[in-house]
Amino acid sequence: MAHELGEGGDLLILGISELATAVGDSARRGDAMRDIVRIPDAAVVARGGVIEYAGPRLGLTQELVEGLEPLDAHGAAAMPGIVDSHAHFVFAGYRADEFLQRARGSSYMEIHRNGGGILRTVEATRAADLDALMRLGEARAWAMIQQGVTSVESKSGYGLDLETELRQLEASRAVAERAPIDVVASYLGLHATGPEFAGDASRYVDYAIAEVLPAVALQGIARFADAFCEPGVFSPEECRRFLEAAKALGLGVKIHAEELQRSGGAALAARLGAASADHLIMAAPEDHALLAEAGVVATCLPLTSFCLGAKYADARGMIDSGCALALATDLNPGSACSGSVALAMALAVLSMGMSVEETLTAFTLNGAAALGLAGDRGSLEPGKRADLILLDAPSIDYLPYRTGVNLVQATIKDGELSYRA
Ligand code: NIG
Ligand code: FE
Repeated sequence: MAHELGEGGDLLILGISELATAVGDSARRGDAMRDIVRIPDAAVVARGGVIEYAGPRLGLTQELVEGLEPLDAHGAAAMPGIVDSHAHFVFAGYRADEFLQRARGSSYMEIHRNGGGILRTVEATRAADLDALMRLGEARAWAMIQQGVTSVESKSGYGLDLETELRQLEASRAVAERAPIDVVASYLGLHATGPEFAGDASRYVDYAIAEVLPAVALQGIARFADAFCEPGVFSPEECRRFLEAAKALGLGVKIHAEELQRSGGAALAARLGAASADHLIMAAPEDHALLAEAGVVATCLPLTSFCLGAKYADARGMIDSGCALALATDLNPGSACSGSVALAMALAVLSMGMSVEETLTAFTLNGAAALGLAGDRGSLEPGKRADLILLDAPSIDYLPYRTGVNLVQATIKDGELSYRA
């Protein structure tokens, strides 16, 4: 039996027409998002799942390739694995009817106010046991792996009670054991007011702080806490109370900020030193400046704008103000039930004025930074995890150009082949 590609995380790839990567072990901000390296005729060497070499083929030495069976990429472009730093993919039930209602003119908040939206997914998720949630999450994880995703966030927020939130987070952890993907779990405690609290958001916030946060922190099953800061959902003050409590327990924090209306979430993210502020569709130039100054990753979610028929976040304004911008899918059953990395990239370039270099940085290194993973993921450099993808294209320019087409030919996680087209 031939040696399986990448077995044990040992790997030599030749025949790469272009190796494209951002460099560094933290988020790249502003203009620096554009200066990625693009190396023609490149090679990658990994041992034990860690990159030893990523550079020109001519730079390989005998010592580097010793004992490795080469894989010929046949002119594919190579880049770091996608880091999808904002996703809600462990849930039960779909809401196709709401999508069609919105397409006919209803708004996301109208549906939310009428008891639809998030609370419908809460009902279905509460009814799903751990095994069902694991299987749903695992199936969606494989769909991501086929699109080159090697690390993904998993937000809870479809339980809104102690038992179900913990179950969603537990299922998220289990997905990483069942599929070759890293999963970073976030407790999205303030997603909507739990039905038991009959619209009393403040009392629900007290409950989340007193009952759920301590259990999440004690079990160590989430790295971040997150809150949906939006008029009619949670106020900046409610989010502040919850996120400060989370920080005190050692969790990092994230905020769904300025998604449908501008309400102060971005300023709060800057004040709290959040890992990221996400959505930012309605963010103003003052918000961009605050996020840049505080070093908060500004995460934009073009599929959500596309699916909601909303405007796109001002990515140019953010990058030109010196922000570190990340792109992610926001995969969820409501506002953006797509998960298409290819479409998100095309929208970033076509509708948000981002260059292909910025798009690559945003979906890899800056996504990793938004999840606290940039130290060993998000770029192709010696010492980093060998998480990379090969494209059915000679250069990364084809990513937006082949609009909406999944060009991923192979996904390699920790130096092992996890998917091949
Ligand atoms: O990121 N904004 C809040 N949360 C999700 C939507 C969740 C849902 O509708 O189920 C979002 O858009
Ligand atoms: Fe979201």
